[in-house]
Parts: sequence; C-alpha cells; structure tokens
Amino acid sequence: MNSSTPDRYGRISRLLHWGMAALFAAQFITAGVHFVFPDTALEEAVWGAHVPLGVLLAVAGVLRGLWALADRPRRPAAWNRAAPLGHLALYALMVAVPALALLRQYGSGRPFSPFGIPLMPGFEGDEIEGLTALGGLLHGELGWALLALILGHIGMVVWHRRAGGQDVLARMRAR
Ligand code: HEM
Ligand code: HEM
Repeated sequence: MNSSTPDRYGRISRLLHWGMAALFAAQFITAGVHFVFPDTALEEAVWGAHVPLGVLLAVAGVLRGLWALADRPRRPAAWNRAAPLGHLALYALMVAVPALALLRQYGSGRPFSPFGIPLMPGFEGDEIEGLTALGGLLHGELGWALLALILGHIGMVVWHRRAGGQDVLARMRAR
C-alpha cells in the first residue's frame, strides 16, 4: 500500500512524484518569469516564491532519494536500460540545482532564514568566492537543463504509451 509492488509505485512514491511535479511546475514558472519579464510587476509578484519553493524542493528531493533507495527492491522493474539512467539523471539534477543555490547563499555570508528557520547565521568578512561563482555559473544553467530533461521524461511516457504499447503511466497513477 505505502510501499511499491512489482506492478505499481506505492502511495509514498506517488505522493512524492506528483507533489514534486506540481512544485516543479510552479518553480519553473517563477524562473521563466524571472528570465522573460525581468523588472516588471509580474516578476515582482512571483519571484519572491522562488527561494522558499526551492528550499522545499531541496528537502523533498533528498527525502525522495532516500525513500527511493529503501523502496527500490519492491518497485516495478524497468522496461529498458535507458529509463533507470534517465531517472538517475533527474535525481542528480533535482538535488544539485538547489544545492548549488544554497552553497552560493552560504558563500555570500548573508544570514538565511527560509520560513523563519535560521538555517545560516551568516558571517563577517569577505564572501567565499568559489561558492558564489560556482552557483552563479551553474545554478540557472543546470536548472534549465533539468527542465529539458523533465520535458524529455514526459515525452518518453507519451511515446511508450503510443508507439511502444507500454502503459507506464498506469504504474504511477492512483486507481
Ligand atoms: C529545485 C529547485 C530550483 C530550481 C529548479 C531552480 C531553477 C532556477 C532557474 C532555471 C534559474 C534561472 C532563471 C533565469 O535564467 O533567469 C534560477 C535562478 C535563480 N535561483 Fe533557482 N532554482 C531552484 C532552487 C533555488 C534555491 C533553493 C535558491 C536559493 C537559495 C534559488 C535562487 C535563485 C536565484 C537567486 C536565481 C537568480 C540568479 C541565477 O540565475 O542564478 N533557486 N533558478
Ligand atoms: C506531467 C508530468 C510527469 C509525468 C506524466 C510523469 C510520469 C512518470 C511515470 C509514468 C513514471 C513511471 C515510470 C516507470 O514506470 O518506470 C515516472 C517516474 C519518475 N518520474 Fe515522472 N512524470 C512527470 C513529471 C516528473 C517530474 C517533474 C520529475 C522530477 C524532476 C519526475 C521524475 C521522475 C522520477 C525520478 C521517476 C522514477 C520514480 C521515482 O523515483 O519517483 N517526473 N514519471
């Protein structure tokens, strides 16, 4: 019921998958608006949600990874060799993208209290340039790469149902 079985993903896996898919959709809307409509009222309205949503996704991503490891022996078997590699890449970016932003945040030396929780106290003196530069270089770029991978992932689900005759969606859907 909560755990997966060989014919479908369990309730916890499905909750994490679809809950995070909704959060990712919202997160890419904030990122897209930041990119396409900078310095507008629309950006003003949505960009404030990017960091809290990102922190929530970071926590959920780590919990999901741990759950996937524990649940793995019970999960439906892959239909081909590429799918587990694709899912692994999704996990890698799901964790790396917010981690790079959090490292950049830490390196800036500014205090950081998402949801009022004092996560980073901040520090005096110069910023840690290695961390801020790394985040500046990679966070947004890898974020867009994650979006591309997600679109490919959705494309593969559709393709497997249409051309391959394999209803993978049934394994991730509530009944
Ligand atoms: C999984 C979670 C996250 C995703 C998918 C994501 C995605 C993105 C993307 C695609 C951009 C580029 C927007 C552009 O090109 O204008 C971006 C920018 C940004 N993100 Fe995130 N983000 C996430 C988490 C976070 C977190 C946790 C923080 C803060 C601690 C953060 C802070 C920022 C900032 C300050 C920018 C603007 C500077 C830059 O482009 O690097 N993000 N994010
Ligand atoms: C409309 C959006 C989406 C659809 C229709 C969809 C569909 C599916 C389906 C059918 C599976 C099961 C594949 C199998 O049986 O092997 C799956 C698994 C998976 N999906 Fe998605 N997905 C969507 C969005 C996302 C997003 C946004 C992410 C995260 C970045 C994601 C990450 C994964 C991962 C990592 C798995 C492997 C199982 C797990 O560990 O959760 N998916 N998806």
